[in-house]
Amino acid sequence: MKGKNQDSSEKTDTDPTGVQKNIVVIEGDGIGPEVTRQSVKVLNSIADRFGHEFSFTYFLMGAIAIDKTGNPLPDETIEASLNSDAILFGAIGHPKYDNDPSAKVRPEQGLLKLRKSLQLFANIRPVSTYAALHHLSPLKTKNIEGVDFVIYRELTGGIYFGKKEINAAGTQASDDCVYSREEIERISHLAFQHARQRRKKLTLVDKANVLETSRLWRKVVQEIAGQYKDVAVDFLFVDNAAMQIILNPKQFDVILTENMFGDIISDEASVISGSLGLLPSASIGKGAALFEPIHGSYPQAAGKDIANPLGSILSAAMLLDHIELHKEANLVREAVDWTLRNGFVTKDIDPVNFYFTTTIGELISDYVGGKIPGDINKANVEIRKSTII
Ligand code: IPM
Ligand code: MN
Repeated sequence: MKGKNQDSSEKTDTDPTGVQKNIVVIEGDGIGPEVTRQSVKVLNSIADRFGHEFSFTYFLMGAIAIDKTGNPLPDETIEASLNSDAILFGAIGHPKYDNDPSAKVRPEQGLLKLRKSLQLFANIRPVSTYAALHHLSPLKTKNIEGVDFVIYRELTGGIYFGKKEINAAGTQASDDCVYSREEIERISHLAFQHARQRRKKLTLVDKANVLETSRLWRKVVQEIAGQYKDVAVDFLFVDNAAMQIILNPKQFDVILTENMFGDIISDEASVISGSLGLLPSASIGKGAALFEPIHGSYPQAAGKDIANPLGSILSAAMLLDHIELHKEANLVREAVDWTLRNGFVTKDIDPVNFYFTTTIGELISDYVGGKIPGDINKANVEIRKSTII
C-alpha cells in the first residue's frame, strides 16, 4: 500500500528497519585510502544485506590536502563533516614533514583542527587481544589472554591546544597545558557510563604529584565518582600506568586520561594485541563522530596492497554501533574474528602466507553480506580467491 509520500512509503514497505546515513569519507595519506576503501566495501555490503542506505562523500585532509589545496583541512571538509552522520577517516602524515621542524603547514594540523571544529572531545580506543595473534605480542601469552580495556582520551584540550610560543631568538619555547572543569566533566561522564556497562572499574591516569591540571582532574573525577557509586575508581600516576600496562594489562577496564598522556599510553597499549594494524578508535563529541584506525599513514607500505585493513574495518564497526546498528556492528566483528581464526591475514601478521589488503576486505564484505557461511572450509576460499591473490 502506498502512502501520500511515495518515497518514504516505498522505503517503509521494503524494509521498515532500514536507516539512511550520510557518511563523510576522508581517506587521508599513505595507506589511508587503501584501508578505508575496504571499510566502505564492508559498509556497502552491510547496507545491501540489511536494507540501509549509506551515502559516501569524499573529502580531503592531511598531506594530500596540502598538495592539492595548500591547506591541510579545507573549509569544505569541515562543512561536510559538520553536516554528516559520521566520518570515516584513514590516516594522516607524510615523511617529508616529519624531519622539518620549520615547516609552517603540517598535515597533522588538519586533524587537530577537525577535532576542535567538531568538538570531538572524547577519543575511545578499545584494546583487546585475539588468540590467533598472541604469538605476535611482545608480552607473554599468560599476561595478555583476556586483556580487554578501553582508553578514554580527552582530545580537544591540554597541552595540544594551549598557547604555544617561541621567543624571537628561537632559543626558548613553551606549550601551555590548560583544562577547565567542564572539559574534564564531559568526558568523565562518558567514561563512567561506559564503565557501568563493563566491569565497573575506572582508572584515572594523571600526574597529580606534579601538575596542577592533573590535580584538577583528580578532584573533578573524585566528585563525579559520587554519582557512579557502583563503579570502583582508582588513580595512577602516568609513569606507573605506563609500567602497569606492560606488567599486568588485565587489571584495567576503563582508563580515563588527558590528551597527551592518552596519546602516549594508547600507542603503548596497542602493541599488547600483537599488531598496531588492528586497533580501531572513535572520536565523539557534540555532533558527528569520527572513526579511524589508530595506526599512522605507514608510507613505506602505501599503494602496495599489504596494509592491514582490520583497524579501519573495526573502526567501521564502531561507527555502526554509534548509529545504533549493533547487530550489524557485531557481525563485522564476527567477520574479523573469522578471518583471523582462519589465517586470512595480512603481511604484518604472517609475512610468508599473507593475503592482500583488498582480499581481506572482500572476504569480510562477503562474510557480512551472508555470502560466506561461517563454517566454510579454508581450501574453498583459497580456490575462490585464487584469481585475486
Ligand atoms: C593520534 C595521532 C595524532 C595525535 C597526531 C597525528 C596529531 O598521534 O591520533 O594519536 O597526536 O593525537
Ligand atoms: Mn598518537
